[in-house]
Amino acid sequence: MRFVVGMTGATGAAMGIRLLEALAQLGVETHLVLSEWARATIKIETDFSVADVRAMATRSYSARDLAASISSGSFRTDGMVVCPCSMKTLSAIRIGLSDNLITRAADVALKERRRLVLVTREAPLSEIHLENMHHLARAGAVIFPPTVAYYARPSTVDEVTDYVVGRIIDQLGIEHSLINRWKGDQQSIPTSDDQPSPDSDDSRLTVVRRSP
Ligand SMILES: Cc1cc2nc3c(=O)[nH]c(=O)nc-3n(C[C@H](O)[C@H](O)[C@H](O)COP(=O)(O)O)c2cc1C
Repeated sequence: MRFVVGMTGATGAAMGIRLLEALAQLGVETHLVLSEWARATIKIETDFSVADVRAMATRSYSARDLAASISSGSFRTDGMVVCPCSMKTLSAIRIGLSDNLITRAADVALKERRRLVLVTREAPLSEIHLENMHHLARAGAVIFPPTVAYYARPSTVDEVTDYVVGRIIDQLGIEHSLINRWKGDQQSIPTSDDQPSPDSDDSRLTVVRRSP
């Protein structure tokens, strides 16, 4: 399979890097575009150099290279992920701006009806952000805010990152075994017959922790 990966200047460069690593391990061809501010956040947030990150992809392009293969719908791919996706790039994709290779490749994914997963990173969200997300979801994009799956009991930031990346790869339709999936039998949840917890307003939402 072949995917375009865009990284922008939202916080979470480690997610994009782990995604590239995981896709390489899964034998997926990746075409990487880093925005100017993705290059900055890689340096600010991680111990990787920009060259290290570029080397993880099958091919890497300048965001200014609008003549690159992935700028055209005639270059076949299975879709695109923007991870992390800033609110600026989200808004540019929303209006079809195509002013750099990330926004152009995303525009191509939408027009060619290919998968487009936007790992949007911002909090709290303004009405403008929400409206852009709503519009793009209706246009066929998957809006994927990276969140912590507490039920997986992560104990390190790497575990949180791996879980997010595993769920992003699920959205690409690629089989993998990067994450422990919820099986439904790991924890017992009180039923309505159980006594409510004395310090809880709503016993249905109380997860009973197993003994270590
Ligand atoms: C360390 C750092 C963290 C940032 N985190 C976010 C973020 O989480 N979400 C966001 O929308 N912008 C964030 N920004 C601002 C973007 O980098 C800025 O809007 C930039 O213009 C995005 O451009 P790009 O989408 O072309 O990369 C951050 C900037 C820095 C320096």
